Amino acid sequence: MKRIIIAIDGYSSCGKSTLAKGLAKSLHYAYLDSGAMYRAVTLYFLDNQVDYNDPAAVLEALRHIEIHFERIEGQNRTFLNGRDVEHDIREMRVSDHVSPVSAISVVRRAMVEQQQSMGRRRGIVADGRDIGTVVFPDAELKIFLTADVDVRTSRRHLELAAKGIDAEWDEIKRNLSERDRIDSSRADSPLRKADDAVVIDNTLLSEDQQLEKALALAKSKMDQTPG
Ligand code: DC
Repeated sequence: MKRIIIAIDGYSSCGKSTLAKGLAKSLHYAYLDSGAMYRAVTLYFLDNQVDYNDPAAVLEALRHIEIHFERIEGQNRTFLNGRDVEHDIREMRVSDHVSPVSAISVVRRAMVEQQQSMGRRRGIVADGRDIGTVVFPDAELKIFLTADVDVRTSRRHLELAAKGIDAEWDEIKRNLSERDRIDSSRADSPLRKADDAVVIDNTLLSEDQQLEKALALAKSKMDQTPG
């Protein structure tokens, strides 16, 4: 069967990574967490006191940033300059700065270039905000995920608690809403549904139901794609 690219975009915390990981596992595809890359850049800027409003400082810092992924005991881990930062990039201090950092065009250009090279051999599921519109506009299957913001906040709250990261429900909701606002209104590659994306609202869907729906879409795209 033809190996395709599956692009998943949508608002913050609406289950994109859960769906992407489920699809990648079922189809034996690679998984690309593009948000983790913007989070790793943000972590570097915070830890090294890089003023991200200073274009020269950003450009210089980007020369010192190397991001890659490794699978360790079945888990996707994000590495920044050789250090496993999978836990640190999920902290609220990173969530609070990642949207302005990811609105910077030179940052986007560097990340998109690396993402596109990871997708060259196809057989990949990628999630983010501009995957179907900018990174892989030729993806065979594009999904735009959405869900009610209170449901998203509760899911995020549980997810952070499970990782041992302490955050108030209201603080999480404020962060999600603010990120959605910045991510959708920025000048460079704003979050928007690609014209040819299928919308899935998972407010009332279980993880299994959502995966089943997406797998059916993927299989039908694979059947239609010439080998
Ligand atoms: O998917 P996430 O919540 O971990 O992403 C963190 C932030 O990174 C998100 O608020 C906006 C940015 N992002 C982006 O601009 N483009 C992407 N393809 C993925 C994430």
